[in-house]
Amino acid sequence: MIRLQKVIAQSGICSRRKAEQLILDGKVKVNDKVITELGFKVNSNDEIKVNNKKIKKDRLEYYVLYKPKNIISSTKDEKDRTTVIDLIKSNARLYPIGRLDYDTTGIILITNDGDFANLMMHPSNKIEKTYIVYLDGLITLEQIKKLEQGVIIDGRKTSKARAKILQKDTKYKNTKLKLIINEGRNHQVKKMIEAIGLKVKKLHRESYGIIDLKGLIPGMYRELKKSEKEQLELLAKQ
Ligand code: URA
Repeated sequence: MIRLQKVIAQSGICSRRKAEQLILDGKVKVNDKVITELGFKVNSNDEIKVNNKKIKKDRLEYYVLYKPKNIISSTKDEKDRTTVIDLIKSNARLYPIGRLDYDTTGIILITNDGDFANLMMHPSNKIEKTYIVYLDGLITLEQIKKLEQGVIIDGRKTSKARAKILQKDTKYKNTKLKLIINEGRNHQVKKMIEAIGLKVKKLHRESYGIIDLKGLIPGMYRELKKSEKEQLELLAKQ
């Protein structure tokens, strides 16, 4: 038995919070009976209607995709460019968990489980994301310290991060940096680098919590294992 709001959220039509509101508003029926109780539990045989429309109970799918460059991290694109969803062979209503910029490569999780996506993207969760940042310029230890202690972006300080120089090319004046952050703000890495007076030339996300890209090449994906999903949930709830 699963809570009604969870089943509605998992169908992909809305978040769990929105589902709760729909239940309270009397918009949800289970086996043709209006249910307004938030703790109500249903099983897989129950027929659920939201606004008198039967919801589809999709099989829940979870993928790890190696996003190539020049692919959009959304479900649709108004310019008809290829999206991360186009790369996955599935009939489910999938969407990416968070975003990577058009020119960023690396790991992105894809699902049709609204609850899991919300948990992963919730601002309180401290799941670490590891980025390899190719910088235009030579970074100083002072700048590294600033990144680690937090810089102001969009009027708010970033939380503590870890940064490590992987390579410094004094001839061509560029740096390869590993940056580990536990937030997921908009264009966060590029803005953090801008805040210390440098510029990102290339950006790659190497890992997402305990998940990395081992065995994948750009454009390839695999299903997330049940144990990996459970570990991510545990990490997010810490
Ligand atoms: N930070 C960015 O600036 N861009 C990304 O794609 C991901 C993190």
